[in-house]
This record gives sequence, structure tokens and C-alpha cells, in this order.
Amino acid sequence: MKVMNIVQVGIGSLGRRITRCVLKKNGLKIVGAVDTDPRKVGKDLGAICSTNPLGITVSESLSGITGHEEVDVALLTTVSDIIHITRQIEKIVEHGIPVVTTCEELAHPWETAPQHAEKIDKKAKKNHVAVLGTGVNPGFLMDLLPICFTAVCQHVERIKISRIQDASYRRIPFQKKIGAGLALPDFEKKKERGVLRHVGLTESAHMIANKLGWRLDRIEETVLPIVAKDTLVTDTLTVEAGNTAGVEQIWRGFIGKEEKITLVFRASIGETEPQDKIQIDGQPPIVSTIPGGINGDVATCAITINAIKQVIRAAPGLKTMADLPVVSWFE
Ligand SMILES: NC(=O)c1ccc[n+]([C@@H]2O[C@H](COP(=O)([O-])OP(=O)(O)OC[C@H]3O[C@@H](n4cnc5c(N)ncnc54)[C@H](OP(=O)(O)O)[C@@H]3O)[C@@H](O)[C@H]2O)c1
Repeated sequence: MKVMNIVQVGIGSLGRRITRCVLKKNGLKIVGAVDTDPRKVGKDLGAICSTNPLGITVSESLSGITGHEEVDVALLTTVSDIIHITRQIEKIVEHGIPVVTTCEELAHPWETAPQHAEKIDKKAKKNHVAVLGTGVNPGFLMDLLPICFTAVCQHVERIKISRIQDASYRRIPFQKKIGAGLALPDFEKKKERGVLRHVGLTESAHMIANKLGWRLDRIEETVLPIVAKDTLVTDTLTVEAGNTAGVEQIWRGFIGKEEKITLVFRASIGETEPQDKIQIDGQPPIVSTIPGGINGDVATCAITINAIKQVIRAAPGLKTMADLPVVSWFE
């Protein structure tokens, strides 16, 4: 198999993990790195990723990288919002490079941001490449995996998916995103500003509804703090008793009075019973639990890399995980 040349765009917490994984994987080669953080630009990628020197200098834009014609794919791990990612993707696909991104709002943007989805789709088609939004969640656990379970159902009445995580073992940006360590008034302020929540439940629910042919006519979403009963100490932060240990977010989608899709996302420091659970009321009924739950950082790093092959082979345009042939680990 031909070696696949990769440009890593965004060398944050996830980009660094992905780089280290790619270095260990046969058949993949990092040939360029981009990040806008001035503390990273001009440095050797290895110095930022705590590896041996790699001879790859971090550039502040793609135009600073030579030999675009040799790049097979860009792994884009920068932001969660569709507006910024649209601009970033446009610049990459103009070079004829396919994109795998972990941007949550791109996991299934057709209902939430149709204009941006169309813009990316058109631009990707014009440049003959595919673009995919993926990740552990959204991108797999709360959308693609339950969708796959329904393949053995004669009928599906409703779906409930719960992702309960102990955030002690997650990367720092994730712990910040769920408000871990905040005093309750600060949690409420950030919640009001819309910056304190897990991004992606809406996209997951739309991916499921779209695939199952359900037209949801009402949705509800609640975001509540999980309060620490005792002081919690991790390697990276301390949560005082009475402050926020994390977040519980519940997303409900209805058809008429019937609740058809329920997504429960709960992540906090010291969560005692982490698990991923899928419940399908249908024929046959299905309940599947992954005790301990899947580590999101390990899994996102993996799925981003594992999706590369399918994205390179895919027809041009914007894709979701539900559009591609099965993505799997490969030797
Ligand atoms: N779908 C999923 O399941 C999933 C799972 C994990 C993570 N994610 C998402 O993946 C993204 C990356 O995660 P992370 O933890 O690595 O975030 P992070 O630590 O904030 O890293 C992002 C990096 O990208 C840089 N950046 C921002 N805009 C850029 C641009 N236009 N071009 C190049 N670099 C740019 C940032 O620089 P500055 O710091 O200077 O802005 C930062 O160095 C986040 O949006 C996260 O929410 C999704």
C-alpha cells in the first residue's frame, strides 16, 4: 500500500496525540504541520509533541507548506464551530487535499447549518475531494453505533443513548468545556454565554433521525451542573466541594407527543459509574452497555486516523460517518 502523506492542522491537545499515533503507524507519514498559536509556529513538530525531532517546522498557514501535491489528507483538529471550520476547510480543499476533521458541528450539519454544509460540499466537489466530520462523540458512540444497531431491527419505536464519563482522565480542554472546578455562579454565567456544554448532541440526534427517516417536530435541551460533594483532586485540577465537578446535558427529540430520541451526556470529575449505553425500544428490543465507557481522547485520535482511508477513497463532497463505508482499524 502507498504511504499516505498527512498534514496535521491544529497541534493542540488532540493534534499532538494524533501526531504521536501517526508516527507509530505503518503506512502513514506526517509531512507538514500547521497551527496559528505563535508559541508553536516555527518550532519543530517533535518539540511540541514531546517526541524526537521530526524535521517538520510548524507553519502558521497551509501556504507555508511546500509540496501540496504530495499531501494525501489533512487532519483538522482546531475548533468546534461550523463558521470557523468552514473557512479553514475551504482553504485546505482549494489545494485539492481531502479533510478529516473533529469539528463537532460538522458531524451532521445539514439541519443545523445547511448553508455552511452546502458551501463546504460545493467547494469539496469543485476540488474533487471529500470532507468528513468525525470523532468519538459526535461521530460514533451517540450516533453511528446506535444507527448500526438498528440494522437488525424490524421496527424502532424510540432510542435512548447515555454517555456517562469520569472526566478525570480526559484532556484539559475537555475538563474546561464541562466547567470542572468552576464556582456555581461562574458555571451559570458560562452556560448563559453558550460556551459551557458538550457540542454535538444536536448533530448526533439529527444523524440518527435522518438515517431512520424520522422528522422531529420539537426538541428540548437541558444543561445542569453536577456539584462536587467532596473536594476532588486530579493530576490537572482541584474541584472544591460545592463547586462544579462537571455537566449533565439531556437532549430530547419528539414527534408529536412521543419522545423518539433521548441523548444523555454526563461528564464529571470522579463520576462513579462511567459507561456507554444504547437502548432501543423496538423489535427486537436492544440494550447494550460498555462498562467503564470508551475513553474519548483515545477513541477520537483513533477514529480520525482510521477514517483516512475511506475519506481518500470517497466520492467528492461533504460526508458524515453515516455516509461512508465501514470505518475500522487497519494494520
Ligand atoms: N468529535 C469529537 O468526538 C471530538 C473529540 C475530541 C475533540 N474534538 C474537538 O477537536 C478540536 C481540537 O481539540 P483540542 O483539544 O486539540 O483543542 P485545542 O487544545 O484547543 O487545540 C486546537 C489548536 O488548534 C489551533 N488553531 C485554532 N485555529 C486554527 C487555525 N485556523 N489553523 C491552525 N490551527 C488553529 C489552536 O491555536 P490557538 O490556541 O492559538 O487558538 C490550538 O493550538 C476541538 O474543537 C474539540 O472540541 C472533537
